[in-house]
Amino acid sequence: MNQKTQFVLSGLRPTGRVHLGNYFGAIRNWVRLQDSYRAYYFVADWHALTSDYADPQNVRQATFDAVADWLAAGLDPKKCSIFVQSEVKEHAELHLLLSMITPLPWLERVPTFKDQQAQLVEKDLNTYGFLGYPLLQTADIIVYRANFVPVGEDQASHLELSREIVRRFNNFYGDVFPEPQPLFTESPKVPGLDGRKMSKSYGNTIPLSAPADEIRALVMTMFTDPNRIRRKDPGNPDICNLFQFHKLFSDQETVARVDHECRTAQIGCVDDKKLLAEIMVENLRPIRERREAIDRDPSVVWDALREGNRSARERAAETLEQVRRAMKIDYPEFR
Ligand code: TRP
Repeated sequence: MNQKTQFVLSGLRPTGRVHLGNYFGAIRNWVRLQDSYRAYYFVADWHALTSDYADPQNVRQATFDAVADWLAAGLDPKKCSIFVQSEVKEHAELHLLLSMITPLPWLERVPTFKDQQAQLVEKDLNTYGFLGYPLLQTADIIVYRANFVPVGEDQASHLELSREIVRRFNNFYGDVFPEPQPLFTESPKVPGLDGRKMSKSYGNTIPLSAPADEIRALVMTMFTDPNRIRRKDPGNPDICNLFQFHKLFSDQETVARVDHECRTAQIGCVDDKKLLAEIMVENLRPIRERREAIDRDPSVVWDALREGNRSARERAAETLEQVRRAMKIDYPEFR
């Protein structure tokens, strides 16, 4: 069997139940990668606090819901380590040590810093912790000496910073860290029910493990070709949001047939919604059933995390020993 010699690390802030955008954008890739890499996946609960520090009561439930869906989607605790960031204190120690060598302007010019402050005006993000967000992310990555980091394009500037920090560290103290490379795995664009990007903040999501009737009800609310007003009007699948979902869930034959029957007004939007809903219900059945089993026995989630925390700590502790030695702050006398 293939020896796993390369390390993959990725994390997500706990935002609760996984929706189809999260699934096609990230989790499905994570599931694939667990077979060929030594993979570490975690819930970034400290990162959640960088913006939600005033209102943290949802973090615990969101952590559970996220991990339950990751397991339902196919992450296998026997193949990868799934853990909670705040349970591996080495992230925090490394973050502190990295803060010593990080020039302030490097953090100030990370574009997400100003962008997020401008977008989330209702939160005061002019904090030490928020400025340090991408540095904590750097610690998350390099504490596992990760080679690859599967992320979306939105994280490119954070990975850029991570590589700069690694070069600076290795320059001062010798080669401890490999430079982590982003893995921008191609993933389909997933629109929301209204055609904008699927996002919790737009309220246009479909939960990955939603009950069948919820999927049916949500599909009925989907936007279709806005120019197709009457049943007998021919439609244009190219500008129909519903059709995007056919491309994600239906086989090629069905996609071709729907395309034709929509353009020729043989199938109406309501019929098409019913068709799509049943295809999605069927497609998502294995994930939904695994999630239902997990809800009947939630200890599965905590057990997976307990073991993941342990194995993550093991790798992270090794790294910190190397780091302390390199930075001359190790005291063998105390061991
Ligand atoms: N910033 C990432 C996001 O918002 C979450 C994250 C935190 C992360 N630490 C990480 C991603 C380390 C990859 C690696 O999605």
